[in-house]
Amino acid sequence: MGKFLGAAPCFTIPMLVLLIVGCAARPFYPLPSRLPEGSRHPLQTTRPYNIAHRGSNGEFPEETLPAYKRAIEEGADFIETDVLSSKDGVLICFHDVTLDQTTDVGKYKKFANRRRTYDVQGVNITGFFTVDFTLKELQSLKVKQRFPFRDQQYNGKFSIITFEDFIAIALDAPRVVGIYPEIKNPVFINQRVKWRDGKIFEDKFVEILKKYGYKGSYLSKDWLRQPAFIQSFAPTSIIHVSNLTDLPQILLIDDTTIPTQDTNQTYWEITSDSYFNYIKKYVVGIGPWKDTIVPAVNNYMLTPTDLVTRAHAHNLQVHPYTFRNEHNFVHFNFHQDSYEEFDYWINTIRVDGIFTDFTGSLHHFKKWTSNLPPNDTEEQSASDLLHKISVMLNPYRS
Ligand SMILES: *[C@@H]1O[C@H](CO)[C@@H](O)[C@H](O)[C@H]1NC(C)=O
Ligand SMILES: *[C@@H]1O[C@H](CO)[C@@H](O)[C@H](O)[C@H]1NC(C)=O
Ligand SMILES: *[C@@H]1O[C@H](CO)[C@@H](O)[C@H](O)[C@H]1NC(C)=O
Ligand SMILES: *[C@@H]1O[C@H](CO)[C@@H](O)[C@H](O)[C@H]1NC(C)=O
Repeated sequence: MGKFLGAAPCFTIPMLVLLIVGCAARPFYPLPSRLPEGSRHPLQTTRPYNIAHRGSNGEFPEETLPAYKRAIEEGADFIETDVLSSKDGVLICFHDVTLDQTTDVGKYKKFANRRRTYDVQGVNITGFFTVDFTLKELQSLKVKQRFPFRDQQYNGKFSIITFEDFIAIALDAPRVVGIYPEIKNPVFINQRVKWRDGKIFEDKFVEILKKYGYKGSYLSKDWLRQPAFIQSFAPTSIIHVSNLTDLPQILLIDDTTIPTQDTNQTYWEITSDSYFNYIKKYVVGIGPWKDTIVPAVNNYMLTPTDLVTRAHAHNLQVHPYTFRNEHNFVHFNFHQDSYEEFDYWINTIRVDGIFTDFTGSLHHFKKWTSNLPPNDTEEQSASDLLHKISVMLNPYRS
């Protein structure tokens, strides 16, 4: 882009602003890699966090490079991922313990004998498990979109990425973008994968975060430079991790019928006031399934529970999951309008963060409805103006 601008005949472009830009030998936007350390636009911390659930997986296959890049373009505060392991102990970004639903593993003859049945947290699951494939084998597969009603054109185009690749995407972003990795299925992974020196899955997970400089408690200087939330459904993982790092953690909370995978506690136990009192020594918040906050019947919402009020009384943040634009996920109360849904959760329920498959929609909603601080507004409109000018320039560039 820079080289085209440099060659542009300045004198044929009349407007002053175009003249200045047209003559410049440098690209219009500064290259992020050339900016001095610390000068990237910081994480916003005054509005509920926009957590890009598995990247912008509403558009691209989940947990892939383009899904994460898109989420960053669309305004994600945090990019979210599920961390699992390969057979050879490399941490990867992948949601299911089996590869069947979101890769093309089924089409390879050479892998046909890898199908297994394992007990995963008390349920027998059959399929091709990530823990039976080396990283190299996993990377030879192609991923696909999970839901049939989403764009299928990217199926077969992208590969599984590692946890380290994921971190690199966040660190390369043109502004500060946080990461929000989950220690996924730790009981199962620790049963199936063994690391050297008696290290366990959680140790490897924290080791990688430390390797890339992630450290510091919530809102500390170190944290703001490279923000991260660690999430897990397993209380024992959270307590283990709290011994290794002071990064903030979030306890995920499942449906009311599902016990914790490690401690076999009920939903009611882990959402009691006495439990919140205990767990708040280790976590800064909870990540509940949204129907536990506002139960729904026949796709209509009922009266909200007191979960958010009680969590807030313990100074715990609440980041519910998962918000999806498609009509089949939006309760009828919202007139099939995702903005009404965001409005309700942000301004009535008053959550502190939202896991969404559609980062762009949540970002637009917040941008168009919040009273941004004056400085922020200025920056926003200045950057919008730059963007508009840059778009106007495009016809002159080649
Ligand atoms: C899983 O399969 C094994 C072997 O067939 C069986 O013994 C066990 O009871 C099953 N477990 C569950 C939870 O169904
Ligand atoms: C945390 O570290 C302390 C001190 O080293 C140790 O006594 C304790 O057992 C550790 N807890 C966990 C859960 O690993
Ligand atoms: C978990 O707890 C329930 C009771 O709440 C019990 O029936 C079940 O056997 C327990 N499961 C395990 C694996 O301990
Ligand atoms: C904008 O930010 C600067 C420094 O961050 C501060 O000094 C100034 O008062 C702010 N201006 C407004 C209008 O808030």
